Amino acid sequence: MKALDIVIFGGSGDLSLRKLMPALYFLYSQGKLAKGSRVVGLSRARISRDDFRALILEKLALYLGDDYVKTVAQAFCELLDYRDLDISDDQSWGALKDYLGPVGRCGIIYYMAVPPTLFGTVCEQLDRQGLAPDSSRLVVEKPLGEDAQSAEAVNKILSASFREEQIYRIDHYLGKEAVQNILAFRFEDGRVESLWNREHIDNIQITVAETVGVEGRAAFLDRAGILRDMIQNHLMQILCFIAMDAPEKLTANDVRDRKVAVVRALRPVTALTLADHVVRAQYGPGEAMGRPVPGYMQEIRGQEIRDKDIAGTGETFIAVRVCVDNDRWRGVPFYLRTGKRLSGRFARIIVNFRNAEINRVILNIQPDMTIHIDDVLLQDSAHSGRIPDAYEKLLGDVMQGNQSYFVRHDEIIASWEWIDGIRKAWADLEMHSYPAGSMGPDASDGLLAASGHKWYED
Ligand code: BG6
Repeated sequence: MKALDIVIFGGSGDLSLRKLMPALYFLYSQGKLAKGSRVVGLSRARISRDDFRALILEKLALYLGDDYVKTVAQAFCELLDYRDLDISDDQSWGALKDYLGPVGRCGIIYYMAVPPTLFGTVCEQLDRQGLAPDSSRLVVEKPLGEDAQSAEAVNKILSASFREEQIYRIDHYLGKEAVQNILAFRFEDGRVESLWNREHIDNIQITVAETVGVEGRAAFLDRAGILRDMIQNHLMQILCFIAMDAPEKLTANDVRDRKVAVVRALRPVTALTLADHVVRAQYGPGEAMGRPVPGYMQEIRGQEIRDKDIAGTGETFIAVRVCVDNDRWRGVPFYLRTGKRLSGRFARIIVNFRNAEINRVILNIQPDMTIHIDDVLLQDSAHSGRIPDAYEKLLGDVMQGNQSYFVRHDEIIASWEWIDGIRKAWADLEMHSYPAGSMGPDASDGLLAASGHKWYED
């Protein structure tokens, strides 16, 4: 095992403190960080290394709860270092280069925990300073553009300094244990695969429900809307795992080739078909977790003073009827829905069969991580000990150079093109309303009823 430098741009930011450091702590505690490895936080916080270590210790104790072991955390903190970096200043980059030392001394992973607007400068400087050798890896995360065109532009920036084999695009849903289990469930048992097609399956439902509202993210969410915040990435990835053909070998590119094939087979939604395929809505006042909560418009009004350009046009709920036009799925509707301020927080997949010896397969992604075939519990991942967080799994994969659970550029573009088709046509699409604490507007039930279907509810 080779020593690694893990260099985090935005090292003292929220993503780093909440997700990356806890993930690295666990990887360290399992002996997965070789001797001589360093975890280097970069930012403009102007703090000392000791202050940085103290901050990380404090946050680890906060976020790890019962999993926090002080002696392990202290030992982990010995690997931590902090450097100030002013990304617009050449001298600052020169100092970073001197600090990192000769390229090739160890493996190097760059994690971009900074807004995409900074990707360009960072990649350019890494390249210019000779800090992006072929062996280095770059980790980035959404939002990677807001349509196909801007996603191409982001990629142009990344690919000017890094090859596709070096770029790890995170969709944290791909790091969830139960999402990864979908592939094993489908492909490890030939019987499942033999029933997994239009001949036996009537319809498939994918729901990702959240109880939170827009919180402090109104400016971003109102602009993006939940179609771009959730469907383009997380629900699309789940859809791909459910619908893809079996990869010949389980190599990263084989898996990703099969996924792109699904996205390319999605029937485009047009102005003519939009109203029959998409329902969008915003939440009104209602209840969440037992207390009264304001509606979306009231909530964002409270944030207008800070973010003047919130237009109030973002959808907080969406339901889509998706058609996958290939031999396996032609005629089988896939219903996707996701929303904020719904009645519960869960993610689950329902596969409704017809003419088969089984009626229904339920794959729970969260909080339960179970697979049921009718009333039979087939698998319960929660019973196999501590479940690693998505970031722990994904960072472990980056360290091993395994890109299977990372999104390739062509997948991103294909899915944006499909999303762009919906958005192009939807200026006149009705914005429905639903009470906070419900499962969305009535129109979402109507979307399924039109084909004689019904959302599965417990
Ligand atoms: C993020 C979205 O990607 O995923 C958020 O930007 C959303 O709006 C979150 O709340 C949901 O993730 P999880 O893991 O909590 O289901």
